[in-house]
Amino acid sequence: MRYDELMETAEKKMKEQGIFERWSLYGAETGYTRITNNEFFKTIGLKLRTIDSTSADTHAVLFGQKLSTPIIAGAMSNPGIKEMPAPLQCWAKGMKEAGSMMGVGITSADAFAEVMKIGVPTYRISKPFKDRQKVVGEMKEAEKLGAVAVGTDIDFGLGNKVGYKPFYTNEMAPFSCEELTELRKETKLPFIVKGILHEDDAEKALKIGADAIVLSNHRAMVLDYCVHPLEVLPRIREVAGKKITILVDGGFMLGSNVLKALALGADGVLVGQAILCGAVANEAQGVTDMITEMTGQLQRAMMLTGCPDLNSIEEFILHKRNYVL
Ligand SMILES: Cc1cc2nc3c(=O)[nH]c(=O)nc-3n(C[C@H](O)[C@H](O)[C@H](O)COP(=O)(O)O)c2cc1C
Repeated sequence: MRYDELMETAEKKMKEQGIFERWSLYGAETGYTRITNNEFFKTIGLKLRTIDSTSADTHAVLFGQKLSTPIIAGAMSNPGIKEMPAPLQCWAKGMKEAGSMMGVGITSADAFAEVMKIGVPTYRISKPFKDRQKVVGEMKEAEKLGAVAVGTDIDFGLGNKVGYKPFYTNEMAPFSCEELTELRKETKLPFIVKGILHEDDAEKALKIGADAIVLSNHRAMVLDYCVHPLEVLPRIREVAGKKITILVDGGFMLGSNVLKALALGADGVLVGQAILCGAVANEAQGVTDMITEMTGQLQRAMMLTGCPDLNSIEEFILHKRNYVL
């Protein structure tokens, strides 16, 4: 399916299934972070630069894996949608076909093992469970089953909120720097810290030996009035230097916006909602189509801004606006 067909079909089906509100208009408390995730991209324009432009190569290397695209899955868990049995496997198949990478978040050991059988490069992000041994156990299991990277999110220490309703409050606790240092020592795999939005946390992630950080406001479901990752990305790249892998997420539904993230210093972009929409529209094939369409948009935008490959994308193709229409 083409991009517009995917989006229209997903919206129609979500409304029919009564899940549109829950899965499209969510956000902690007032939901303003969600609005920012959708709207912030409008404040950045792309400058056409076409003379001598020929082709654009979207291939990316993340965690040692050569991928067709820098658009990879966020850390995903089962959304509990009745019409979507075995969602993680469906998404993993779709991401494999698209030449991308799968991410797995909170899930059972069995469901994770099923994803690993599909044979798509997969990373695992655990949660700040109060039971720290559970985090270590999930990391070790992932390593044993052939994950390409492991890590944890750090933003979920107080759980999350859908509107004013809290979830996971009692099961989680924020990590200390010492605890993260110990956790990092438990694996030889690249170690990811997800949920960084302040340069202080980026510096701490470097200190504990993280190989990658994910700038994320966790789908707007943790902190109301939270910044968008692109607002803080340039400062964090400056502090973190070139060596660490920086991934970002938050409302990326279009290749043009992925280009903005890459131009501001990201190595790759994570998507959750886009995968969900693709799968609602047409199962695994819908996921493949969604990633392929977004990658096509990225490639076209790269050609139109004179960027032949991911390494040549720089901030000077962007124009920061002081207005939004
Ligand atoms: C169905 C679904 C389940 C998710 N489960 C997790 C999870 O278990 N752990 C986690 O860190 N993030 C989880 N996320 C968040 C994603 O990893 C990612 O941060 C987010 O989806 C990016 O924003 P976007 O949905 O606007 O693309 C989930 C997202 C979706 C859509």
